[in-house]
Amino acid sequence: MSEYIVREYKKEDELKWLDLHATVMVDSYAWWTVLHKKPSYQNDIIDLIIEKEDDIIGFITTEINSDLIDMVDDDYGFVWEFGVHRDYRGFGLGKRLINETHQILKNKYQINQSIWFSQDKKAQKYYEKLGMEEIERHWQFSIKPDKRLKRDLKDKGFNCWNLRGECKIEDYQRVKNNLNIIEDNDTLKPRICIGYRYLID
Ligand SMILES: CC(C)(COP(=O)(O)OP(=O)(O)OC[C@H]1O[C@@H](n2cnc3c(N)ncnc32)[C@H](O)[C@@H]1OP(=O)(O)O)[C@@H](O)C(=O)NCCC(=O)NCCS
Repeated sequence: MSEYIVREYKKEDELKWLDLHATVMVDSYAWWTVLHKKPSYQNDIIDLIIEKEDDIIGFITTEINSDLIDMVDDDYGFVWEFGVHRDYRGFGLGKRLINETHQILKNKYQINQSIWFSQDKKAQKYYEKLGMEEIERHWQFSIKPDKRLKRDLKDKGFNCWNLRGECKIEDYQRVKNNLNIIEDNDTLKPRICIGYRYLID
């Protein structure tokens, strides 16, 4: 029997799952905020972890479709969370999580594609190596509000430090010319986020 067990996430796993998530975040720019509670989702999810003895060392959470994107016509699995602890990378465990998720998408939901987004360059290379097809790209960044916007928001009682959002690749220069993009903060600085489609055999 394999020393690495893939199984469904259970409520009792929450703290260990969050600990691993925080550890994985250190190595990837895919996330810019820490999770203190496991998120819930509107639709069905496929929520798998990899366990070694009593430890959780990998996770993948996939929602059946998502309100977040409108560019994919047929049903899909939208991958929200994916990571393997750094001590166990390169052993094929990430691929195993993907394969098991794809089997469930296919057999339980008759879905033949998963959708992935990442602004982390190493993750993008990984997705490309696996043969995913790029479907979209955009910039993600934070801005410091200018005096007028800051005043408008302050009038509404909100003292704003920064705002986060995205723009089309072709609009980036215009945004940069007109707004104060935060570039000197390693976590928040602008990154290109790429969307991928992975077809299931
Ligand atoms: C992405 C991640 C989950 C991959 O997990 P893993 O268990 O190391 O991946 P696997 O061992 O299954 O790798 C499968 C193949 O991809 C290759 N690979 C691994 N990382 C790669 C990378 N960054 N770029 C290109 N190829 C990569 C492996 O060598 C392997 O190739 P092979 O089948 O020819 O041997 C892991 O690196 C990770 O947790 N990264 C940080 C979190 C993260 O960025 N998650 C994505 C959020 S969008």
